Amino acid sequence: MSEARARENRGMTRSAPSAPLPPPDGGGLPRPRLPSPLQEVREPAFERRGLRLLLKRDDLIHPLVGGNKWRKLVPNLRAAAASGAPALLTFGGAYSNHLRATAAAGRLLGLPTIGVVRGEELAERPLNPSLTRCRADGMRLWFTPRADYRRRREEAYLAELRERFGAVYVVPEGGSNAAAVEGCVALGEELRGLVDVAAVACGTGGTLAGMAAGGPTAVGVPVLRGDFLAAEVRRLQEAAFGGPRGRWRLAEGFHFGGYARTTPELTRFADDFEQRHGVGVERVYVAKLLYALTALAEAGDLPPGAAVAAVVTGTPDPLAGD
Ligand SMILES: Cc1ncc(COP(=O)(O)O)c(C=O)c1O
Repeated sequence: MSEARARENRGMTRSAPSAPLPPPDGGGLPRPRLPSPLQEVREPAFERRGLRLLLKRDDLIHPLVGGNKWRKLVPNLRAAAASGAPALLTFGGAYSNHLRATAAAGRLLGLPTIGVVRGEELAERPLNPSLTRCRADGMRLWFTPRADYRRRREEAYLAELRERFGAVYVVPEGGSNAAAVEGCVALGEELRGLVDVAAVACGTGGTLAGMAAGGPTAVGVPVLRGDFLAAEVRRLQEAAFGGPRGRWRLAEGFHFGGYARTTPELTRFADDFEQRHGVGVERVYVAKLLYALTALAEAGDLPPGAAVAAVVTGTPDPLAGD
Protein backbone atom coordinates (compact mmCIF):
# COMPACT_ATOMS: atom_id res chain seq x y z
CA MET A 1 0.00 0.00 0.00
CA SER A 2 1.32 3.45 -0.87
CA GLU A 3 1.98 5.84 1.96
CA ALA A 4 -0.64 8.24 0.64
CA ARG A 5 -3.29 5.55 0.54
CA ALA A 6 -2.37 4.42 3.99
CA ARG A 7 -2.74 8.01 5.17
CA GLU A 8 -6.05 8.44 3.36
CA ASN A 9 -7.37 5.10 4.47
CA ARG A 10 -6.29 5.81 8.04
CA GLY A 11 -8.12 9.13 7.88
CA MET A 12 -11.42 7.55 6.87
CA THR A 13 -14.40 9.14 8.49
CA ARG A 14 -16.45 6.89 10.68
CA SER A 15 -20.13 6.44 10.06
CA ALA A 16 -22.77 7.64 12.46
CA PRO A 17 -23.44 5.23 15.31
CA SER A 18 -25.97 2.55 14.59
CA ALA A 19 -29.63 3.33 15.29
CA PRO A 20 -32.66 1.06 15.07
CA LEU A 21 -33.84 0.50 11.53
CA PRO A 22 -37.23 1.96 10.65
CA PRO A 23 -40.22 -0.26 9.94
CA PRO A 24 -40.75 -1.70 6.44
CA ASP A 25 -42.34 1.46 5.05
CA GLY A 26 -39.10 3.34 5.66
CA GLY A 27 -40.46 5.03 8.83
CA GLY A 28 -37.50 7.23 9.83
CA LEU A 29 -37.13 8.62 6.32
CA PRO A 30 -39.34 10.90 4.34
CA ARG A 31 -41.95 8.33 3.34
CA PRO A 32 -41.25 6.52 0.09
CA ARG A 33 -43.81 7.11 -2.62
CA LEU A 34 -45.01 3.57 -3.20
CA PRO A 35 -46.48 2.34 -5.40
CA SER A 36 -44.64 4.77 -7.64
CA PRO A 37 -46.80 6.79 -10.06
CA LEU A 38 -47.68 5.45 -13.50
CA GLN A 39 -47.94 8.28 -16.00
CA GLU A 40 -49.14 7.96 -19.59
CA VAL A 41 -47.32 9.98 -22.25
CA ARG A 42 -48.43 10.52 -25.84
CA GLU A 43 -45.73 9.35 -28.21
CA PRO A 44 -46.42 9.38 -31.96
CA ALA A 45 -44.28 6.30 -32.61
CA PHE A 46 -46.50 4.35 -30.22
CA GLU A 47 -49.82 5.87 -31.20
CA ARG A 48 -49.21 5.13 -34.88
CA ARG A 49 -49.06 1.44 -33.96
CA GLY A 50 -52.01 1.52 -31.55
CA LEU A 51 -49.66 1.16 -28.57
CA ARG A 52 -49.67 3.10 -25.29
CA LEU A 53 -46.54 4.26 -23.47
CA LEU A 54 -46.62 4.76 -19.71
CA LEU A 55 -43.76 5.91 -17.51
CA LYS A 56 -43.37 4.02 -14.24
CA ARG A 57 -41.95 6.85 -12.16
CA ASP A 58 -39.64 4.99 -9.80
CA ASP A 59 -37.47 8.11 -9.92
CA LEU A 60 -40.09 9.71 -7.65
CA ILE A 61 -39.96 7.02 -4.92
CA HIS A 62 -37.61 8.96 -2.68
CA PRO A 63 -35.63 12.20 -3.04
CA LEU A 64 -32.34 10.70 -1.82
CA VAL A 65 -32.61 7.01 -2.61
CA GLY A 66 -34.75 6.89 -5.69
CA GLY A 67 -35.40 4.57 -8.58
CA ASN A 68 -34.26 1.01 -8.43
CA LYS A 69 -31.85 1.98 -5.63
CA TRP A 70 -34.69 2.10 -3.13
CA ARG A 71 -36.05 -1.23 -4.24
CA LYS A 72 -32.62 -2.88 -4.18
CA LEU A 73 -31.00 -1.27 -1.15
CA VAL A 74 -33.70 -1.15 1.50
CA PRO A 75 -34.04 -4.98 1.70
CA ASN A 76 -30.25 -5.21 2.00
CA LEU A 77 -30.05 -2.62 4.77
CA ARG A 78 -32.81 -4.43 6.59
CA ALA A 79 -31.03 -7.78 6.18
CA ALA A 80 -27.76 -6.23 7.30
CA ALA A 81 -29.36 -4.86 10.46
CA ALA A 82 -31.08 -8.18 11.17
CA SER A 83 -27.77 -10.03 10.78
CA GLY A 84 -26.25 -7.97 13.58
CA ALA A 85 -23.37 -6.94 11.31
CA PRO A 86 -21.53 -3.81 12.45
CA ALA A 87 -21.70 -2.27 8.97
CA LEU A 88 -22.67 -2.82 5.37
CA LEU A 89 -19.73 -3.00 2.95
CA THR A 90 -20.03 -2.59 -0.78
CA PHE A 91 -18.00 -1.78 -3.91
CA GLY A 92 -17.91 0.86 -6.59
CA GLY A 93 -15.94 3.11 -8.90
CA ALA A 94 -15.05 6.74 -8.32
CA TYR A 95 -18.42 7.99 -9.64
CA SER A 96 -20.56 5.12 -8.45
CA ASN A 97 -24.29 5.95 -8.09
CA HIS A 98 -24.56 2.75 -6.10
CA LEU A 99 -21.99 3.94 -3.55
CA ARG A 100 -23.75 7.28 -3.21
CA ALA A 101 -27.16 5.71 -2.78
CA THR A 102 -25.78 3.21 -0.25
CA ALA A 103 -24.13 5.97 1.77
CA ALA A 104 -27.34 8.03 1.80
CA ALA A 105 -29.53 5.05 2.69
CA GLY A 106 -27.09 3.99 5.41
CA ARG A 107 -27.15 7.44 6.96
CA LEU A 108 -30.91 7.70 6.77
CA LEU A 109 -31.47 4.21 8.16
CA GLY A 110 -28.73 4.48 10.77
CA LEU A 111 -26.53 1.69 9.47
CA PRO A 112 -22.77 2.34 9.08
CA THR A 113 -21.48 1.82 5.53
CA ILE A 114 -18.08 1.10 4.04
CA GLY A 115 -17.31 1.72 0.37
CA VAL A 116 -14.45 -0.19 -1.24
CA VAL A 117 -13.44 2.14 -4.06
CA ARG A 118 -11.68 0.98 -7.23
CA GLY A 119 -8.32 2.73 -7.63
CA GLU A 120 -5.64 3.11 -5.02
CA GLU A 121 -4.45 6.28 -6.77
CA LEU A 122 -7.66 8.08 -5.81
CA ALA A 123 -6.48 8.21 -2.22
CA GLU A 124 -3.78 10.63 -3.33
CA ARG A 125 -6.19 13.05 -5.03
CA PRO A 126 -8.83 15.39 -3.68
CA LEU A 127 -12.13 13.54 -3.41
CA ASN A 128 -14.37 14.03 -6.44
CA PRO A 129 -17.93 15.36 -5.84
CA SER A 130 -19.42 11.85 -5.83
CA LEU A 131 -17.05 10.49 -3.19
CA THR A 132 -17.33 13.74 -1.23
CA ARG A 133 -21.07 13.07 -1.05
CA CYS A 134 -20.43 9.50 0.13
CA ARG A 135 -18.15 10.70 2.85
CA ALA A 136 -20.55 13.47 3.89
CA ASP A 137 -23.12 10.71 4.39
CA GLY A 138 -20.72 8.96 6.74
CA MET A 139 -19.43 6.25 4.42
CA ARG A 140 -15.97 4.94 5.24
CA LEU A 141 -14.01 4.92 2.00
CA TRP A 142 -11.39 2.27 1.39
CA PHE A 143 -9.31 2.86 -1.73
CA THR A 144 -8.05 -0.36 -3.17
CA PRO A 145 -5.67 -1.27 -6.01
CA ARG A 146 -7.40 -2.39 -9.19
CA ALA A 147 -5.83 -5.85 -8.88
CA ASP A 148 -7.50 -6.30 -5.48
CA TYR A 149 -10.74 -4.81 -6.74
CA ARG A 150 -10.92 -7.44 -9.45
CA ARG A 151 -11.10 -10.04 -6.68
CA ARG A 152 -14.27 -8.49 -5.24
CA ARG A 153 -16.35 -11.63 -5.79
CA GLU A 154 -13.75 -14.03 -4.35
CA GLU A 155 -14.43 -15.48 -0.92
CA ALA A 156 -10.75 -15.15 0.00
CA TYR A 157 -10.81 -11.41 -0.68
CA LEU A 158 -14.07 -10.95 1.22
CA ALA A 159 -12.48 -12.81 4.13
CA GLU A 160 -9.58 -10.33 4.05
CA LEU A 161 -12.03 -7.44 4.12
CA ARG A 162 -13.90 -9.02 7.04
CA GLU A 163 -10.62 -9.37 8.88
CA ARG A 164 -10.03 -5.67 8.40
CA PHE A 165 -13.55 -4.33 9.01
CA GLY A 166 -15.22 -6.98 11.17
CA ALA A 167 -18.14 -9.23 10.30
CA VAL A 168 -19.56 -6.81 7.76
CA TYR A 169 -22.62 -7.53 5.61
CA VAL A 170 -21.36 -7.53 2.02
CA VAL A 171 -23.42 -6.21 -0.90
CA PRO A 172 -21.89 -6.81 -4.35
CA GLU A 173 -20.98 -4.04 -6.77
CA GLY A 174 -24.13 -2.55 -8.29
CA GLY A 175 -26.16 -3.90 -5.37
CA SER A 176 -27.60 -6.91 -7.19
CA ASN A 177 -27.99 -9.92 -4.93
CA ALA A 178 -30.90 -12.13 -3.91
CA ALA A 179 -32.29 -9.56 -1.45
CA ALA A 180 -32.18 -6.84 -4.12
CA VAL A 181 -33.92 -9.07 -6.65
CA GLU A 182 -36.63 -9.88 -4.11
CA GLY A 183 -37.01 -6.14 -3.48
CA CYS A 184 -37.71 -5.58 -7.17
CA VAL A 185 -40.57 -8.10 -7.27
CA ALA A 186 -42.87 -5.36 -5.97
CA LEU A 187 -42.06 -3.27 -9.04
CA GLY A 188 -43.54 -5.98 -11.25
CA GLU A 189 -46.48 -6.46 -8.90
CA GLU A 190 -47.30 -2.75 -9.06
CA LEU A 191 -47.56 -3.05 -12.85
CA ARG A 192 -49.50 -6.32 -13.05
CA GLY A 193 -52.95 -5.83 -14.53
CA LEU A 194 -52.15 -2.24 -15.56
CA VAL A 195 -49.84 -2.85 -18.53
CA ASP A 196 -49.08 -5.70 -20.93
CA VAL A 197 -45.32 -5.18 -21.15
CA ALA A 198 -42.87 -3.70 -18.62
CA ALA A 199 -39.44 -2.59 -19.81
CA VAL A 200 -36.35 -1.63 -17.86
CA ALA A 201 -32.74 -0.73 -18.63
CA CYS A 202 -30.24 -3.29 -17.38
CA GLY A 203 -26.77 -3.05 -15.90
CA THR A 204 -26.37 -6.14 -13.73
CA GLY A 205 -29.88 -7.41 -14.50
CA GLY A 206 -31.05 -7.47 -10.87
CA THR A 207 -33.97 -5.13 -11.41
CA LEU A 208 -35.18 -7.11 -14.43
CA ALA A 209 -34.81 -10.41 -12.57
CA GLY A 210 -37.09 -9.22 -9.77
CA MET A 211 -39.55 -7.24 -11.86
CA ALA A 212 -40.10 -10.15 -14.27
CA ALA A 213 -40.88 -12.44 -11.34
CA GLY A 214 -43.67 -10.20 -10.07
CA GLY A 215 -45.16 -8.69 -13.14
CA PRO A 216 -46.24 -8.68 -16.76
CA THR A 217 -44.03 -9.77 -19.67
CA ALA A 218 -40.73 -7.98 -19.17
CA VAL A 219 -38.23 -6.53 -21.63
CA GLY A 220 -34.68 -5.69 -20.52
CA VAL A 221 -32.50 -3.26 -22.45
CA PRO A 222 -28.78 -3.88 -21.76
CA VAL A 223 -26.72 -0.68 -21.57
CA LEU A 224 -23.38 -2.51 -21.55
CA ARG A 225 -21.71 -4.38 -24.35
CA GLY A 226 -21.34 -8.13 -24.08
CA ASP A 227 -23.63 -11.12 -23.92
CA PHE A 228 -23.40 -11.96 -20.23
CA LEU A 229 -26.72 -10.53 -19.16
CA ALA A 230 -29.21 -13.33 -19.88
CA ALA A 231 -27.09 -15.80 -17.89
CA GLU A 232 -26.75 -13.26 -15.10
CA VAL A 233 -30.54 -12.71 -14.89
CA ARG A 234 -31.01 -16.50 -14.70
CA ARG A 235 -28.33 -16.74 -12.00
CA LEU A 236 -29.94 -13.97 -9.94
CA GLN A 237 -33.39 -15.57 -10.23
CA GLU A 238 -31.89 -18.90 -9.16
CA ALA A 239 -30.31 -17.20 -6.13
CA ALA A 240 -33.49 -15.33 -5.20
CA PHE A 241 -36.22 -17.84 -6.04
CA GLY A 242 -34.49 -21.17 -6.62
CA GLY A 243 -35.32 -21.15 -10.35
CA PRO A 244 -36.65 -19.15 -13.31
CA ARG A 245 -39.63 -16.85 -12.78
CA GLY A 246 -41.83 -14.80 -15.11
CA ARG A 247 -41.59 -14.10 -18.82
CA TRP A 248 -38.77 -11.85 -19.98
CA ARG A 249 -36.54 -11.15 -22.92
CA LEU A 250 -33.67 -8.84 -23.76
CA ALA A 251 -33.79 -6.19 -26.49
CA GLU A 252 -30.17 -6.14 -27.62
CA GLY A 253 -28.40 -3.62 -29.81
CA PHE A 254 -29.16 -0.41 -27.92
CA HIS A 255 -25.97 0.03 -25.86
CA PHE A 256 -24.70 2.83 -28.16
CA GLY A 257 -21.10 1.69 -27.84
CA GLY A 258 -21.20 0.55 -24.22
CA TYR A 259 -21.56 1.75 -20.69
CA ALA A 260 -22.02 5.55 -20.39
CA ARG A 261 -21.34 5.91 -24.11
CA THR A 262 -23.66 7.99 -26.19
CA THR A 263 -24.10 9.31 -29.73
CA PRO A 264 -25.46 12.61 -31.04
CA GLU A 265 -28.58 10.71 -32.12
CA LEU A 266 -29.24 9.38 -28.61
CA THR A 267 -28.59 12.79 -27.06
CA ARG A 268 -30.99 14.43 -29.51
CA PHE A 269 -33.61 11.80 -28.76
CA ALA A 270 -33.30 12.28 -24.99
CA ASP A 271 -33.29 16.10 -25.23
CA ASP A 272 -36.39 15.96 -27.38
CA PHE A 273 -38.18 13.52 -25.05
CA GLU A 274 -37.41 15.77 -22.08
CA GLN A 275 -38.72 18.82 -23.86
CA ARG A 276 -41.93 17.26 -25.07
CA HIS A 277 -42.86 15.53 -21.82
CA GLY A 278 -41.22 17.65 -19.14
CA VAL A 279 -39.56 14.56 -17.63
CA GLY A 280 -35.80 14.53 -16.96
CA VAL A 281 -34.19 11.65 -18.86
CA GLU A 282 -31.25 10.01 -17.06
CA ARG A 283 -28.69 9.43 -19.79
CA VAL A 284 -26.73 6.29 -18.83
CA TYR A 285 -29.73 3.97 -18.55
CA VAL A 286 -33.12 5.57 -19.11
CA ALA A 287 -32.31 7.29 -22.42
CA LYS A 288 -31.29 3.94 -23.94
CA LEU A 289 -34.45 2.29 -22.62
CA LEU A 290 -36.74 4.92 -24.14
CA TYR A 291 -34.85 4.90 -27.43
CA ALA A 292 -35.02 1.11 -27.59
CA LEU A 293 -38.77 1.02 -26.89
CA THR A 294 -39.40 3.62 -29.56
CA ALA A 295 -37.38 1.58 -32.03
CA LEU A 296 -39.27 -1.61 -31.08
CA ALA A 297 -42.59 0.20 -31.50
CA GLU A 298 -41.59 1.48 -34.93
CA ALA A 299 -40.40 -1.97 -35.98
CA GLY A 300 -43.69 -3.59 -34.93
CA ASP A 301 -41.78 -5.60 -32.35
CA LEU A 302 -44.22 -5.04 -29.47
CA PRO A 303 -47.53 -6.92 -29.09
CA PRO A 304 -50.31 -5.18 -31.07
CA GLY A 305 -52.39 -2.81 -28.93
CA ALA A 306 -50.13 -3.26 -25.90
CA ALA A 307 -49.84 -0.85 -22.99
CA VAL A 308 -46.09 -0.61 -22.41
CA ALA A 309 -44.50 0.64 -19.19
CA ALA A 310 -40.99 2.10 -19.28
CA VAL A 311 -39.49 2.08 -15.80
CA VAL A 312 -37.79 5.39 -15.01
CA THR A 313 -35.08 3.96 -12.78
CA GLY A 314 -33.21 7.15 -12.02
CA THR A 315 -32.98 10.90 -12.38
CA PRO A 316 -30.52 12.90 -14.47
CA ASP A 317 -27.61 13.56 -12.18
CA PRO A 318 -24.58 15.81 -12.67
CA LEU A 319 -22.52 13.33 -10.62
CA ALA A 320 -23.78 10.32 -12.61
CA GLY A 321 -21.64 7.20 -12.79
CA ASP A 322 -21.78 3.41 -12.46
C1 LIG B 1 -30.63 4.60 -13.18
C2 LIG B 1 -30.36 3.14 -13.27
N1 LIG B 1 -31.17 2.39 -14.04
C3 LIG B 1 -30.97 1.07 -14.21
C4 LIG B 1 -29.93 0.42 -13.55
C5 LIG B 1 -29.72 -1.04 -13.82
O1 LIG B 1 -30.07 -1.83 -12.75
P1 LIG B 1 -29.55 -3.33 -12.65
O2 LIG B 1 -28.09 -3.25 -12.30
O3 LIG B 1 -30.37 -3.93 -11.56
O4 LIG B 1 -29.75 -3.97 -13.98
C6 LIG B 1 -29.06 1.15 -12.74
C7 LIG B 1 -27.95 0.48 -12.07
O5 LIG B 1 -27.83 0.44 -10.92
C8 LIG B 1 -29.28 2.55 -12.59
O6 LIG B 1 -28.46 3.32 -11.84
